[in-house]
Amino acid sequence: MLKTEGRNRSLSFTYTGSSTHMGSKILRQPDAEHLIQPFPIKEFKEENEEVDDFALPCLPSPTNPKEAKQIRILEQITSKFHLTDAHLMHIEKRMLDEVNRGLGKATNRTANVKSFVTYVHEIPSGRESGQYLALDLGGTNFRVILVELEAGSRSVKMKACKHEVSQKLMLGPGEDLFDFMTGCLVEFMKDHDLHGRKYHLGFTFSFPTRQRQLDRAELTHWTKGYKNAGVEGQDVVTLLKRSINKRPELDIQVEAILNDTTGCLLACAYKRPECAIGIILGTGTNASYVEDMNHVELYEGPRPRGCKSVVINTEWGAFGNTGSLDIIRTRYDHDMDSNSLNPGKQVYEKLISGMYLGELTRYILVHAIELGILFDGEAQTLLSVPGGFPTKYISEIEADPTRSTFTNIKQVMLELDISVATDFDLQVVRYICECVSTRAAYLAGAGVASLINKVARRRVTVGMDGSLYKFHPHLDRRMRSATRRLVSDCIQFEMVLSEDGSGRGAALAAAVAEKQRKKFID
Ligand code: GLC
Repeated sequence: MLKTEGRNRSLSFTYTGSSTHMGSKILRQPDAEHLIQPFPIKEFKEENEEVDDFALPCLPSPTNPKEAKQIRILEQITSKFHLTDAHLMHIEKRMLDEVNRGLGKATNRTANVKSFVTYVHEIPSGRESGQYLALDLGGTNFRVILVELEAGSRSVKMKACKHEVSQKLMLGPGEDLFDFMTGCLVEFMKDHDLHGRKYHLGFTFSFPTRQRQLDRAELTHWTKGYKNAGVEGQDVVTLLKRSINKRPELDIQVEAILNDTTGCLLACAYKRPECAIGIILGTGTNASYVEDMNHVELYEGPRPRGCKSVVINTEWGAFGNTGSLDIIRTRYDHDMDSNSLNPGKQVYEKLISGMYLGELTRYILVHAIELGILFDGEAQTLLSVPGGFPTKYISEIEADPTRSTFTNIKQVMLELDISVATDFDLQVVRYICECVSTRAAYLAGAGVASLINKVARRRVTVGMDGSLYKFHPHLDRRMRSATRRLVSDCIQFEMVLSEDGSGRGAALAAAVAEKQRKKFID
């Protein structure tokens, strides 16, 4: 469990149980020793299985024989989206196998889920103070953040500046991307009158990297629509430093590079010591968790004195790349994947995350139109265009308070330039959105369950962040209900929103980096 000795809390995970996954709820029994570990935090909100009206997609009710026939077709084309408990148990188990394969020296090379070592061993003690800079690259926006830590206070002050990353930048030469980031940093420092002194910086870089130390990380491959040339296989910190060095006015020490999930975990653990898992459900999806050092065969270099655990960045988005999710994938998943920038890659991510759910829904809507069960078979121009149905529409449509309230969905129809839509059409559209988002929630819930079972503490907090998680009105509840069904009865868990881990986590990582360095032994 997470030791919380005094204020100097180290992520030392004293593992007392078996590391072998033994299945889900029914089979998994954490070692009895876990059950006698004391827990320092009192107000722990245990998750209960919640089944409510919004937990399952709801088919429209037909008002005439034509609609009854259309509903039968709709049921057929969406039938594969409904996952059974048997599916979820299978996925939970396979995910755990994949994470373990990533950890193993002999299996890592062929593993889909790489389980990268982050070299983050410690969470801050709360005594850190000072101003730190953070850079955050990982989705459609890039941010520069100034974080102020105050000793003894567990809240942080932040100032941030957000810049949209254009398609051109995402696909252009790597050097341009790094120079863009450095340019934003220079501008930010000027705006906040920060030039003239040295700053320590944490870099949240939310792509798969193989780290060799806290400030060295090679990009294995781009995800989420980025494809900059000259970066894959390179150390991203070196590229950043090279760009920073072009600007003599900057005096920056890059202390740490981390993934957004690790930032989320750190930022959450700063406030809640039982946090051992960080999850992002945003443009992409991924998870980090605290692992026992004894299970980490690919740790490079000297092991820091006294550190029993380390954070692992699973990169679980790649789960399913070699077919283990094919049992649940639909023709729409396959079509969307073939037309993506990275066919055959990030299979789990494509079933779950914000970059893909809208597009997937669009494929089903277009097919439903072709089958004559939507909009009287009339093709819709904007819906025919790739990217024409952004994921935010799913959240907006499902936020209408009942299935016969059409406020938001009518607004979406307006934006899509669809002028003729019956109530039945609107219910069909909502149903399709529900099928896609419920499956995503359940799949994410199964993934979280596998990590909770793996961490195997009596109580664990899961830090959650990401636009999809924050903005979808029912995803969180659906996900919790799936997770609860799959987690061992002996384990209590809670999922909490841990906002802006990418900023706070990066600054906290930079703050502890120096302290951590001193712990290394030759
Ligand atoms: C993608 C990235 C991963 C990131 C996740 C969430 O899966 O590969 O590194 O954590 O998106 O942003």
